[in-house]
Amino acid sequence: MSADQRENHVPDVRLIERWLPIAALGVESVRERTPMTPFPAPNRLHVWWARRPLVASRAAVLASLLPADADREKFLHAIGIHGDPVAARHAIDHARRTGVRVKNPYGYDRAFGYSLNSGDREWVQSSLQKGTECLTVLDPTAGGGSVPFETARAGFAPLANDLNPVAALILEATVDWPSVFPNDMDPEFNQLAIEWRKTTEERLCAFFLQNDLPDRIDLTYLWARTITCPYCEGLVPLSPNWRLAPGGTGVRLKPELGTGPGSENRVCSFEIVEAANEQSDGTVARGAGTCPYPDCGRVIDGDEIKRQAQVGRMGEQLYAVVFKKRVIKILKSGKRGKDRWVRGYRAPRPEDDNSAKIAAKLAEKLPEWEAFDIVPSEKIPDGNKTTEPQRYGMNSWRDLFSPRQFLCHGTSVEVFREMLDADRTNGTIDEVRRAAYGYLALTLDTLLNYNNRAGRWDSTTGRVRSIFDRHDFAFVWSYAEMAPLVTGVGYDWAIQKTAKCIDELVTLVRPDAAGAPADLFTPSETSYTPPPIAITCKPGDSLDHIEDDSIDAVVMDPPYYDNVMYAELSDFFYVWLKRTAGHVFPELFRSHLTDKDNEAVANQARFKGQKGAKALAGRDYQERMASIFAECRRVLKPEGIMTLMFTHKATGAWDALTKGLMEAGFVITASWPINTEAEGSLHIKKKAAAKSTIFLVCRPRPSAAGSGAGADARVGAGAGADAMVQDASASYGEDPATIYWEDVEPVVAQAARSRVGEFQDAGITGVDLYLASFGPALEEFSRHWPVRRGTPRERPVEHRRRRQKELFADEWDPYAATPEDALDVARREGKRWRLEQLPDLKANAGLDAPTAFFVLAWDAFRAPAFSYDEALRLARAVGVDLDREIVNRLAQKKGQTLYLWDSAHRAAKGTLGPTDGSRGMIDAIHHAAHLARSRSLQAARERLADSGVDGDPQFFASLEAVLEVLPVSKAFTGIEIEGDIESAGDDFEALLNLARLAYREQIDEPKQLKLWRDDAA
Ligand SMILES: C[S@@+](CC[C@H](N)C(=O)[O-])C[C@H]1O[C@@H](n2cnc3c(N)ncnc32)[C@H](O)[C@@H]1O
Repeated sequence: MSADQRENHVPDVRLIERWLPIAALGVESVRERTPMTPFPAPNRLHVWWARRPLVASRAAVLASLLPADADREKFLHAIGIHGDPVAARHAIDHARRTGVRVKNPYGYDRAFGYSLNSGDREWVQSSLQKGTECLTVLDPTAGGGSVPFETARAGFAPLANDLNPVAALILEATVDWPSVFPNDMDPEFNQLAIEWRKTTEERLCAFFLQNDLPDRIDLTYLWARTITCPYCEGLVPLSPNWRLAPGGTGVRLKPELGTGPGSENRVCSFEIVEAANEQSDGTVARGAGTCPYPDCGRVIDGDEIKRQAQVGRMGEQLYAVVFKKRVIKILKSGKRGKDRWVRGYRAPRPEDDNSAKIAAKLAEKLPEWEAFDIVPSEKIPDGNKTTEPQRYGMNSWRDLFSPRQFLCHGTSVEVFREMLDADRTNGTIDEVRRAAYGYLALTLDTLLNYNNRAGRWDSTTGRVRSIFDRHDFAFVWSYAEMAPLVTGVGYDWAIQKTAKCIDELVTLVRPDAAGAPADLFTPSETSYTPPPIAITCKPGDSLDHIEDDSIDAVVMDPPYYDNVMYAELSDFFYVWLKRTAGHVFPELFRSHLTDKDNEAVANQARFKGQKGAKALAGRDYQERMASIFAECRRVLKPEGIMTLMFTHKATGAWDALTKGLMEAGFVITASWPINTEAEGSLHIKKKAAAKSTIFLVCRPRPSAAGSGAGADARVGAGAGADAMVQDASASYGEDPATIYWEDVEPVVAQAARSRVGEFQDAGITGVDLYLASFGPALEEFSRHWPVRRGTPRERPVEHRRRRQKELFADEWDPYAATPEDALDVARREGKRWRLEQLPDLKANAGLDAPTAFFVLAWDAFRAPAFSYDEALRLARAVGVDLDREIVNRLAQKKGQTLYLWDSAHRAAKGTLGPTDGSRGMIDAIHHAAHLARSRSLQAARERLADSGVDGDPQFFASLEAVLEVLPVSKAFTGIEIEGDIESAGDDFEALLNLARLAYREQIDEPKQLKLWRDDAA
């Protein structure tokens, strides 16, 4: 089959295989989650980790179904982009730098809020040419539900599945109930919630004394965990700092010394101070404590703190109470105006301590609660993220709550269950009421999320941070407890939040029911029929409710290798939900805890004690993803399409995912990077992080055609290259069907290289640019898979080392070509391309390997610190030995992070190297920077002249490249930079001044400086 024939053979090409407005989607994705504006209702309803932006999800769904020639303007309209978000973003960046505000730069609301109007829906239907058929979109790992939610909003039928019951409940509450009960949901929930709150309050009010009512109301209690000093026996309250608010308000510890070390009653009391220098120092840092009693003051080893915690000797002490105070305003007329409430802080009082009363109540309640299974009794299982609470003696899920928090939550469940029982007895439970109970269970989860022993007091914002501020169970030394009965706080707040979410969800998914604007209906429509929604809770590789060849598109956002341990984290909620929602939806909550065994994540903890646990976890992820993909392939129509979202900095994760895809019989036909967390392109930070998600578009590889048959399914520019590869492979004289890596590599390189510029123009920069080039490289590689090597590869050093060899579970096959080979090529091409972008002619003169490493590391990571693994890959691409030529010369390795040094660090460490640049021009450059900073520009100039490099074109090429990548200092931008970055910025300033003084002829002004100037103009 010729290339042309093959092209014609392609049945239908979809929009996403040709085009996606990646720059606009990047801006809108970021805009969706701008901190100063409310997040979309699905994000606020309940925690779920690693949610995808709604606008990107809708674009993925629509573009996966619409034909390639669909009208692009209409597409943008349908996804809510009604202006030029990229220009708006530039205007905002510019305003930020110049301090001149721009009014409403976007000119339209955030895209996700827009619901398709009748014109959009008619256009979609006519473009699809499917008549009235409702197309189906499967998301087998749907999590918090961005994809199915947007599928339903676009008028297609979502099939949403997740292994995790907590996610499945969230899916019901986000996608299904608002769509099915749009008018009944809010009133039903509110009625239920008011009753729940009232009864709970009656049972709990005795435990929250408010002695200063009505003019002062306690809102938050701040507690420090305590241990006993092993040297002086004083009770030590542990907190990394004692700040309460910005501007100096904080706590001073007043230690009671008694008769000296060893005496009884050595405790601290607390006072509130208003100046930062009056606050006490923190009593814990990096896991070790410091005794605050001045006659002791010893350091308490971290192991001792853990030991006390594990034997149950860690306690807690109230150190401050946050309150609000009424301020009465008297108007000029003499009448009383509207009261104002201001926040204040007070020290604890003796009457605040009602722990004996709480203990007595719990002692009375617990036997009953345990008998009726009202409160969790499950132990925290061993896991990847659960070691931290266990290390500090918290072995059971209930240990994550203080006694009073536990009493509150237990009482909430007790009342929930009594109401449900009463409804059942009275026969007043129907589908709407069941759903309302579901929302009530999620409301209690909101309280759990914010009222536990891991909720931090954020002194900058004056708010409590939830336990899942991070994606783990990090131990928190001092925590905040809610006063949950205060009007507008606690129960009130949680209930209002859920009610508001329900209201907004209905508006988004059923705008017809929420007072639709007139243009929502076509003249022929009298009412809107929402699409059918199917939600399941199964392993994604066992979707036995879905028939073969029945799904139009799969759009999925699978777990990203080892990024989030969903099951481990969600147990925090599961153990409570099974006692609330589990009595309404028992089919979801039958298991003891959430399913870790079937979860598709690379979780080393599951292989604890086995040789090569890390490699085994990676292999397990790959196999599970392959079998989920195989299931997707089974249910997908032959002409169907699968779009998946993925990102990870580690090549191993990409390798596992792509192998999984190809093993399941998919070929990648297109790829798009979406910058989901973009900052201004000149943004710099301390540690490198990836910000983009890559959309990989896949098609089933026709099974009959055998290897290399992906050519039949594929579309686009690679077709000719494919024919070339196949022809060439025949020349090896072996099995003519075998495709050889040696033939494929140049095509992969070409594919990666051809798109880098396009991605950069779309605002993808730094490390994300390298990730973005993975897509086209994998596309090309997957078209030819399986690929073999004609000549064997030498075994990598790490495979040869005995101890490490055991870590590699796979048999070493010197003829195997893997996706990782394609990724190496992509990285190499990215590196070449970026180097060429740096001052043209001189860079072509060539940089030596250490200098090229330095330049490309700053260019890619835009930070002095980045992962050692990434550094290794960059070193490989540049051709430098990382451990020998970089570490301890130009950089330091700490754990799994590499820290690049600036000239001052290198001088202090005595690692500046030969001044003549014989080991690398970066040495000569750093010598000059150091002298310019510490002595004078003239001294630097003389040193360069003495060493003879100031006549070397390679020196100038290197200096120009370095000036193009180092962070621009405050002197040129007016923007403060800190720490190691500031020091690198000082190098920039010194070198630029030197270049201006001495080498005007040889060195151009850095382009990046021009960018800043243009921006500020
Ligand atoms: C990245 S999240 C999906 C997030 C979602 N797109 C959103 O925006 O909220 C991946 C999901 O895969 C689920 N998952 C993991 N292993 C699974 C399996 N074997 N079958 C089905 N779902 C699985 C996890 O529970 C998690 O919710």
